[in-house]
Amino acid sequence: MTISNGEVFILNTKDLSYVFHVDKTGLLLHDFFGSRIEIKDFNIDAIKQKVSCQKGTSTIYKEEINDQLSMDYALLEFSFPHKGDYKNTPILLKSDSAGYTFDFSYKSYEIKKSPLDNQELPAPHDNDEELVIHLEDSVNRVKVELHYVIFEEANVIARNMVIVNEGNAPLHVLKALSMQLDLVNRDFELKNFVGGWASEMNEANQLLVPGVYVHESKTGFSSHKVNPLFLLKNKDASLDYGDVYIFNLIYSGNHFSEVELTPYGYLRVETGINPFCFDFELKENESFKTPYAVFTFSDKGINGARSNMHKFVNEHVIASRWKEALRPVVINNWEATYFKFTESKVINIARKAKEFGAELFVLDDGWFSTRNDDSHGLGDYWINKKKLPGGLKGLAKKVNKMGMKFGLWFEPESVNPQSDLYKAHPEWAIKSENLAPSLARHQLLLNLGNKDVQDYIIENISKILDEANIEYIKWDMNRHMSDLPNTPNVGEFYHRYILGLYRVLRTLTEKYPHVLFEGCASGGNRFDLGILSYCPQIWASDDTDAHERLSIQNGYLYGYPQSTLSNHVSSTHNHQTLREMSIDTRYNVACFGILGYELIFSEMSKFERQQCKKLIEVYKKYRDVFQFGELSKREYSLYSWAR
Ligand code: GLA
Repeated sequence: MTISNGEVFILNTKDLSYVFHVDKTGLLLHDFFGSRIEIKDFNIDAIKQKVSCQKGTSTIYKEEINDQLSMDYALLEFSFPHKGDYKNTPILLKSDSAGYTFDFSYKSYEIKKSPLDNQELPAPHDNDEELVIHLEDSVNRVKVELHYVIFEEANVIARNMVIVNEGNAPLHVLKALSMQLDLVNRDFELKNFVGGWASEMNEANQLLVPGVYVHESKTGFSSHKVNPLFLLKNKDASLDYGDVYIFNLIYSGNHFSEVELTPYGYLRVETGINPFCFDFELKENESFKTPYAVFTFSDKGINGARSNMHKFVNEHVIASRWKEALRPVVINNWEATYFKFTESKVINIARKAKEFGAELFVLDDGWFSTRNDDSHGLGDYWINKKKLPGGLKGLAKKVNKMGMKFGLWFEPESVNPQSDLYKAHPEWAIKSENLAPSLARHQLLLNLGNKDVQDYIIENISKILDEANIEYIKWDMNRHMSDLPNTPNVGEFYHRYILGLYRVLRTLTEKYPHVLFEGCASGGNRFDLGILSYCPQIWASDDTDAHERLSIQNGYLYGYPQSTLSNHVSSTHNHQTLREMSIDTRYNVACFGILGYELIFSEMSKFERQQCKKLIEVYKKYRDVFQFGELSKREYSLYSWAR
């Protein structure tokens, strides 16, 4: 619910309040974000920042109107550079006429109730109100809209920004983050999540001292190096006590978050698209829209804040048709066979798994063209008839006949130089002319910013989905981006790729609404709210070692609900770490989310087989709790007990 008198803005969710007001200079000043407060008659004197005197050398924003206001010391709702704020700001623009100096003043506001537009970028759905604040630099003819979208029951606010160039000279957007939040420091500790391949979501905790803390991805994708999720918590806050903020971004490309603590104890939190190699040109009347940042707060510790975020993801990010839809128990052939399989081998794996209770058989990498290892065939979609003489149609029929669903692995964004596609369209691969591109896993990325590439992918995946009864897709992507092309608008490249990816995913998921898409990127190299908007679950890590997986899954659970985590029980010894573990331990970890198996059941000992069957029955009985249960104190302690 939003209340305003045109000067004070009060945004209330079920348990939270967010307050800011317009200063007489036209700047927006931030007043409060925390547990819900009641404000009478728009009187916010008690929560307004008190500025008693100016600091010696500070730049006064508009002395003739307010000689006490320096942007450097005020808690600002929206800041911009070159007018006296020497901290990092969420926006940096450049034009020939203005240089880098712009000045945005409040103009008006509107409150909307309509659903958000999700055509270019994924947007959360089933929102309550949306507040739009209009700001303008009337001299340079640039407008900025700040959007605040309220999700009352989930206690989450989503924010984004739109920049509109109304001038006739081109405007360069060099930095456009999705949100800024100015707070007063209360012994805050920053918790973010770092890692690498098969080692995702390691917690990194730092108590803030004055300085700038940046965490970002420059790999082209959200990445396993640093997840866009982060928390800010009072240093004494625990699982069930204390102040905790959670921030995330609905975006799958390069992200950037900075937390800046000043020596005076003011804290600025910002997040959005990474300004690294970013230069988006806006011609007259063109606009740029940032992805949505989302955030919540709880004074009931980590569990309070994450239960808000989990609710938000399940109810407003995951497509409505998958919300609370119980997900099937998977048997995937990857670690059981790798590339070496025949139809009869995978049929046997599926048949045995069915006896144990598996419900969906997923055929992983290696089913197409000359793909017998990872150096060939990516990009070509013709089916390898040597391995699958009956084609996918024949295999799907046999699997369906057993009473199981059939699913398939794809890696549509990549191409091996050793492929028919690359020979036909070398210009579709991402590379700089004149330089040999660097490969990763023997492959290049296709330029999804190019509409022809998007259409090629949509057309070929559609053909396969139309031909066989495929009810699940594992959408993989196995490299970081490199070798940006030497094209004139290269500053738009990273973002245009992601927009292209979203178009492809949006088209396919809308066209095949019954198909369950699972995201994957060498495990969790693109585990983010953008992908989750199309794929309700994501393969959390290529590391299936239950012991290591505990910290990986625990990391995700700070901001992503169990329904999004796809976890498999694999064989012992584990293929990544060689560790031996009991069937119970492997199950006890994998069951916190979407359960699957990646092994050959018939190779297990008799005891393991009996146990395995029993445990899958337990999982099915309590599936709604494992997939959609809330992590309250009790459930969490069960989970940490398994450590
Ligand atoms: C990636 C995925 C794995 C598997 C292989 C297949 O590494 O994360 O689960 O699908 O690709 O090549």
